[in-house]
Amino acid sequence: DLPPIDIAKYVAAKRAADMVEDGMKVGLGTGSTAAWLVRCLAERVQEGLAIKGVPTSQRTARLAQEAGIELITLEEARWLDITIDGADEFDGELNLIKGGGGAHLQEKIVATASDLMVVIADVGKAVDALGAFPLPVEVLQFGWRTTQMLIEEMLVSTDVLGRSASLRMGGQTPFVTDEGNYVLDLHLHRIGHARQLTLMLNQIPGVVENGLFIDICDRVVIGHGDGRVVVRD
Ligand code: A5P
Repeated sequence: DLPPIDIAKYVAAKRAADMVEDGMKVGLGTGSTAAWLVRCLAERVQEGLAIKGVPTSQRTARLAQEAGIELITLEEARWLDITIDGADEFDGELNLIKGGGGAHLQEKIVATASDLMVVIADVGKAVDALGAFPLPVEVLQFGWRTTQMLIEEMLVSTDVLGRSASLRMGGQTPFVTDEGNYVLDLHLHRIGHARQLTLMLNQIPGVVENGLFIDICDRVVIGHGDGRVVVRD
């Protein structure tokens, strides 16, 4: 009796969990869709699947531990067979916006260190052009207002439609990432040249990492509310 959005997330997660094989080192994403993946993988572990998971957040680490999935650090693993993670948007070239949950820094490191990066998403995350979802940029707390100003100034020279970068809040105080940083959400509306934007953002001192994932994702598993699954490579 799940609502269609959760059915979509569940069927995508289930299909992706079936792509994991015995002995694999698996990057575990963050978010509500990735939480379904952790549950699906835990079921397979109970049935005898032997895997080692590398979590992308404290939240996911806790979930996976409670579900009985053996965890190792990325330092121990060095390189992974597969990473499965959610996304906030994906386009036709399988480029992504991530970081709605504020975990994109660790997510990008883990995804980049994987032979295969699989995104699981409900069909509502599919877009023609990235950018309707505010682009998360993790920044150092030190001098964050200056970093915000430099980002907004840089955006003037790009083709994006919006320019404001707002500090993400967690209630009354700024949201703080697992790495102790702040997040600025960039309201861009439409990103024409994502490849260029990601380089320009990461060149600004104070920027730690932005939520654009370009040429990182290999496959998207798309779940529909009626239980259908479509895989794009
Ligand atoms: C976490 O920082 C994000 O990158 C998530 O992967 C993204 O927000 C997707 O979350 P949901 O699966 O909850 O939509």
